[in-house]
Amino acid sequence: MCGIVGYVGHRNVSDVIIAGLQSLEYRGYDSAGMAVLEAPGITIVKGVGKVSDLRKMLSERPLCGSQGIGHTRWATHGGVTEENAHPHCDSSSNIVLVHNGIVENYREIRSEIPGEYRSETDTEVVAQLLSTLYRGNMVGALVELQSRLRGSFALAIMAKDLPGKIYCLRKGSPLVVGMSRDGESLCASDVPAILPYTQDVVYLDDGDISELSTAGIRFWNAAGESVEKRVSHIDWDVSMVDKGGYPHFMLKEINEQGAVLRNSMAGRISGRRVVLSEELPWTRDDVLSWKKLHVVACGTSYYAALVAERFLEDITGFDIRVDVASEYRYRNIMAGPDTLAVFVSQSGETADTLAAERLAMGKGARCLAVTNVLGSTLAREVHDILQLKAGPEIGVAATKTFMGQITVLYLLALHLAKLQGRLPAAMEEELVGEMLSLPYKVEAVLARQESLQKLAAIYSAAEDFLYLGRGRSFPVALEGALKLKEISYIHAEAYAAGEMKHGPIALLDRNVPVVVITPKDGLHEKTFSNILEAKARRAPVIALVTEGDSSLDGTADHVFPVPATLDQFTPFVTVVPLQLFAYYFAKFLGCDIDQPRNLAKSVTVE
Ligand code: G6P
Repeated sequence: MCGIVGYVGHRNVSDVIIAGLQSLEYRGYDSAGMAVLEAPGITIVKGVGKVSDLRKMLSERPLCGSQGIGHTRWATHGGVTEENAHPHCDSSSNIVLVHNGIVENYREIRSEIPGEYRSETDTEVVAQLLSTLYRGNMVGALVELQSRLRGSFALAIMAKDLPGKIYCLRKGSPLVVGMSRDGESLCASDVPAILPYTQDVVYLDDGDISELSTAGIRFWNAAGESVEKRVSHIDWDVSMVDKGGYPHFMLKEINEQGAVLRNSMAGRISGRRVVLSEELPWTRDDVLSWKKLHVVACGTSYYAALVAERFLEDITGFDIRVDVASEYRYRNIMAGPDTLAVFVSQSGETADTLAAERLAMGKGARCLAVTNVLGSTLAREVHDILQLKAGPEIGVAATKTFMGQITVLYLLALHLAKLQGRLPAAMEEELVGEMLSLPYKVEAVLARQESLQKLAAIYSAAEDFLYLGRGRSFPVALEGALKLKEISYIHAEAYAAGEMKHGPIALLDRNVPVVVITPKDGLHEKTFSNILEAKARRAPVIALVTEGDSSLDGTADHVFPVPATLDQFTPFVTVVPLQLFAYYFAKFLGCDIDQPRNLAKSVTVE
C-alpha cells in the first residue's frame, strides 16, 4: 500500500507529483505530502486527507522547483496524523524520503539511534539510519541501509547536498522508473504515474538502487555493482487512466467488461479452438505429471478462483484445492512437482499471494501467475504467466479484473483439458462458441443498468443484506456481497443457498432483503425452495433469473433477467448486475465509491 512518486526534470514538480499521486491514490488515501527541492533547501508540505487536500494546501503555500518526491499513505505504523504523513527527514533535515512497505526491525533501530523523533513511523527511523550511514556516497549508504533493514520497502530519497538527484531503493515493495524523451526522470509505485511522460519503464528488482537525474537513470545491484536493466514497454496509454466521462472509475470499469472479455480472448482463440500453447508451452506429459491443482488468491481474485474451480473440476481431472493466500501459506501444504499452482492477483503485488507463491515454488510446484500486471513481482517470480487484458483498473473495488480473471481461468481450464485428452473437439467448439458470445450478453446487461439504479433506490434504507446462490452462483453471491460492503459499508453476507437454513435464516425478517442468484441451471429448483423459505419469513427477495424464466413471478419481489447462456458461463452474466447494484446503492448513499474507507487496492502488508 502507499503510493510513491519522484520527479526530476524541467516542469513545475508539484503539478507532476499531484497528478502522479492522484493516479496512485488507489494505494491509500489517508494522508498525502511532498518534498520539493527549493534551493538551497528542501520544503515539505503534508497533511491528513486526500491528494485533493494536499492540492489545496499547495494553493496556499505554492512550491517552486523541478525536483521532488511525493507520497499518498495507507496508515500502518502510527495513526492518521500530519506528523505521521510522509515525507520524513532525518534530524539534520539533509535527507528526506518517502516509503512504501513495512520495516520490521524499526524499533530495534530506533533504540540504537536515540534522538528526537517527530512521528511514530518506521519511515522516520529509516531516514535517521540513512543519515548515520551517509558520508557523501549515497549508493554506498543505500547498500548498507538495505542490509540493516528487515521487511519490505520501496524508498525514494533526496538529500539537500545532492541537488538534481533522486535515489530509489527497492526490496519487496514495487518501484518502477522511467525517463521521458525530454530528459525527465521519474519513479513511482506503479506505471499510471509515469505513463503521461513515457511508456518505456524499468521495474526495479529486489535490492536494486537507482539514481534519477536529468542526465539519465543509473542502476546498481544490492552489492553496489553498476548494472544495466531491461526496459519494458507498457502497452497501456494515458487515456486508459482517466474516467472517460464517467462519474467514477468503478462505473467506467464495469462498463468496459464486454471489451475486457474480447481482449482477454483475443489471440487465444482461433476459430472455435483455444490456442494457449505459446503462452503456456506445456506438453501433454507435463500436464499428465500434475496430479493436483492449487488455485490461490485474495479478495475478489479468490472469488474468481472459486468460480473457475467449478469449471476446472468439470472438464479437467485434477484434484483441485482453492484457498485464500493468507491461509494457504500457513498450512502444511502437500504441494510438489506433481502440482500446478495458480496464483491469481490483479496487481501481482499482494503480500500474502506472493508468500504463498514462494512457498509453492520452494516445494517444487509448477507456478503460474494470472495477473493484470506483467512487470509485477508475482509475474517475475513464477514459471508461467497468463496476463489479463483488462487495462489499468483504478477503482478500489475490483470489477473488470474479475471478469478478466474468470475469462482467462476458463481458457486455462480448456487448455489443460485439451492437453489431458479430455476435451472432445465438438465440446471444445460448443464451449468456445458460447464464450465468444459472452461480450454481447454482458453488454446486454449493461444496457439495462437503469433498472438496477431504481432497484438500489428502492432498497436504500436496508442495513443488512443476504446474498444466496448455489453451485457456480455461490461465488457470484460472495462477490456481489463483497462489492456492496466494500463501497457502501452496508452489511452484506453471502451464503451457499442450501446453508441458509443452518443459521442465517434466523436473521431474516421484512427488513433484510435477500438477493438470490438463480439462473436457469440444474440447481434452479433447489434454490426456488430457499426463496420460499425466505419469503415465509417475510424477507423481500430480489432474484437474478434467466430471461424468459417466469417461475419467480409473483414470488420474488423484484426480478432482474440476465441473458441465457450455458450453465458453465452463468457467472459472466450474473456478476454484472450485482456490481451495478452495489455501485448505484453506494451512489445513492453518497459514498466515496472509488476510494472506500479503510481499503486499498494493492495490499502489500500481510
Ligand atoms: C485488495 C483489493 C481487492 C483485491 C484484493 C486482492 O483487498 O481491495 O479489490 O481483490 O486486494 O488483490 P490482487 O491484486 O491480489 O488481486
